[in-house]
Amino acid sequence: MIEYDDKAARATERSYLSPEIVRQRLRTLAVLALRAGEHVLDVGCGPGLLAHDMALQVGTSGRVAGIDKSEAMLKLARQRCAHLSQVELSQGEAENLCADDQSFHALACTQVLLYIPDVRQALSEMRRVLKPGGRIAVVETDWRSAVLNSNEEALTRKITQGWDDAVPSPNLPVQLGPLLREHDFTAIRVEAIPVLDTSYSPDGFSAGMAKAIATSAQERGLVSEAQARTWLDDLERLGRDGAYFFCVNRFLFLAVRA
Ligand SMILES: C[S@@+](CC[C@H](N)C(=O)[O-])C[C@H]1O[C@@H](n2cnc3c(N)ncnc32)[C@H](O)[C@@H]1O
Repeated sequence: MIEYDDKAARATERSYLSPEIVRQRLRTLAVLALRAGEHVLDVGCGPGLLAHDMALQVGTSGRVAGIDKSEAMLKLARQRCAHLSQVELSQGEAENLCADDQSFHALACTQVLLYIPDVRQALSEMRRVLKPGGRIAVVETDWRSAVLNSNEEALTRKITQGWDDAVPSPNLPVQLGPLLREHDFTAIRVEAIPVLDTSYSPDGFSAGMAKAIATSAQERGLVSEAQARTWLDDLERLGRDGAYFFCVNRFLFLAVRA
């Protein structure tokens, strides 16, 4: 299971400031269509990038509650949102939300559910805290849709398979529509958001993910430290040669609580 300490939280923050993920956040904000004065919950708020932007939309008459289980992530979110009095951040778990029934107009949960072993419990909590007619936006990556150029095919297979086994739901988007319906969400819409990198940047989304995936495979004993290094060096070299290619699909779901 991925644990976010200070180093991992800062690395995620860096890669989530990349243009591809900024684009995903803007799309999430667009479909949620927040109004001034609304109360919004960000489940697994991470470094607070979306909570910050949502707070600007609901204004000081509104409220944004962000919860996350990682103190390191919350530290970054607190720094980012310190000047926004409408933001409240607290430690908590998606499976057991510390919030009253029907207390939010809208809810966002981006890149969190794949890490949660009991997705049904988390969705049932999200339904509980939303008002009838409340909107939910969920973003998830389908890691089985990842394609990349590599001269190290065998290592790529081992490392990506290792990631598949390391998170509880690497392929969640394909099941999310039925799961939302099962939890009384209606008017479900979904759109694909490809995250495409054709140039290598050490702070870019794909380079950050490649490092996380290789480290996870190494920690699980699937590859040695030298093999993980070889795989990462090859990606960097492809970048220098103008042959870098990485793409994975994220999916944005919008639904309404019945
Ligand atoms: C990849 S980050 C995404 C952060 C943020 N939602 C975003 O998109 O910018 C995943 C976040 O989910 C949090 N998380 C994972 N499992 C959680 C759980 N059961 N309850 C609350 N937060 C959780 C992690 O601590 C981390 O901050």
